[in-house]
Amino acid sequence: MKILVIESSPHKKGSSNLLAENFIRGAEEAGHEVSIFDTAHCNLHPCMGCDYCGMSGPCCQKDDMAKLQEMILRTDMAVFVTPLYYFGFSAQLKTVIDRFYSFNGKLAAKGLKTGLIVAAWDDNSWTMKDVRAHYETLCQYLNFKDQGQILGTGCGTVSMTARTKFPQLAYEFGKSI
Ligand SMILES: Cc1cc2nc3c(=O)[nH]c(=O)nc-3n(C[C@H](O)[C@H](O)[C@H](O)COP(=O)(O)O)c2cc1C
Repeated sequence: MKILVIESSPHKKGSSNLLAENFIRGAEEAGHEVSIFDTAHCNLHPCMGCDYCGMSGPCCQKDDMAKLQEMILRTDMAVFVTPLYYFGFSAQLKTVIDRFYSFNGKLAAKGLKTGLIVAAWDDNSWTMKDVRAHYETLCQYLNFKDQGQILGTGCGTVSMTARTKFPQLAYEFGKSI
């Protein structure tokens, strides 16, 4: 199966990408073909709400979203990877999600398999409540088939993350796909 990992942290070698790296190792060991798109280090702009696309494209903005859209429409599974920013996705990932607008129907018709990987500093019972709810509502609306979530609490830095159970859980998630 083709798996597209959509990263979104300004830290190329940060906590969320450490979890993603473990997921990828497991998924590759299980025989999947994994590609990575790093939304934090490319040319992507927020949706302008101009409705030029009429929700079915093309988008009037000429940036790296066209390439990402093609990758999403060709993949069997997408994994959204994000640091927790004020209890939600990073702006880099939210920018991509908003840009789904120009191919909303095509995306929903696909029944894409998805996963979620989040790294957060805090370790409260409610730390991941809202990001999880947002993701699950997106799954419902866009007909995504959730395959699993790694909600890494206490993952505030790479060394904190390495001491938690989450790298191993991310590896096992990848291996189980
Ligand atoms: C702008 C910003 C907002 C953040 N908001 C939260 C938050 O709401 N809850 C939390 O636990 N950690 C929060 N953090 C901490 C990061 O989620 C945490 O350090 C994470 O490990 C960063 O992942 P990264 O290395 O992949 O970028 C925030 C950090 C930044 C820079």
